[in-house]
Amino acid sequence: MEYKIPNHVAIIMDGNGRWAQQRGLKRTKGHEKGADALKKVSEYVYKKGVKVLSVFAFSTENWKRDKEEVNYLMNLFLTAFKKNFGAVKKEGVKVIFSGIPDKLSDKVLNAMHKMTEETKDNENGIFNICINYGGQDEIVNATKKIAKEVKKGTLEIDDINQDMYNKYLFNELPPIDLLIRTSGEMRISNFMLWQAAYAEFYFADTLWPDFDEKEFDKALEEYTKRDRRFGAIKKK
Ligand code: IPE
Ligand code: IPE
Ligand code: MG
Repeated sequence: MEYKIPNHVAIIMDGNGRWAQQRGLKRTKGHEKGADALKKVSEYVYKKGVKVLSVFAFSTENWKRDKEEVNYLMNLFLTAFKKNFGAVKKEGVKVIFSGIPDKLSDKVLNAMHKMTEETKDNENGIFNICINYGGQDEIVNATKKIAKEVKKGTLEIDDINQDMYNKYLFNELPPIDLLIRTSGEMRISNFMLWQAAYAEFYFADTLWPDFDEKEFDKALEEYTKRDRRFGAIKKK
């Protein structure tokens, strides 16, 4: 089957904890496996011709978890960045981060900064990692920036529109074409609300650590069958 290839794929990588619990392991083991899955899947996604990949790594709501799990995740980001940075650079993908820097440790922030700096000229694709990210936060944050400009007199109210709004978000990204959520949950959990306006949703029962190339192909197959009308009527 010839797949239609989405330009921007976004993934809510869910189910790490359940994956571990089902095996009698600590939830953190599931996160470790989840990081391995991300490495494999991301390589495949770009190989398929996708240009932009956004992933949900840590939400603004995830601070509600036990300190032990939060600390583990923060350390995992550091190890995963280190371990996979070589591969990312070799692929020529530009790494960017979306989210609010507050609450993240200097160690994590420095590692993020280093990755962004060293990949900023890469043109083979964009890897958008969402850490301490919330979709409503992103929109509020953009609104504040816009309001400040209006107050300063550098922006007219009538010049505020959908296209320019994009520039005030954490990163200026194309719309999401395909949004995948694993683990059987069918909700958006505050992920990329603006960019997902016309995304095709694909829900997989598979838990994130088990999501692989074959599973991504299934999502592509489903996406290929979707009829994207964007409000128009399809001419026969
Ligand atoms: C997703 O897996 C990873 C993060 C939220 C960081 P979960 O940790 O939410 O796994 P479940 O949903 O509890 O199984
Ligand atoms: C969404 O998953 C956040 C990430 C995948 C990082 P959650 O597991 O936190 O979402 P809820 O709590 O089920 O909505
Ligand atoms: Mg979850």
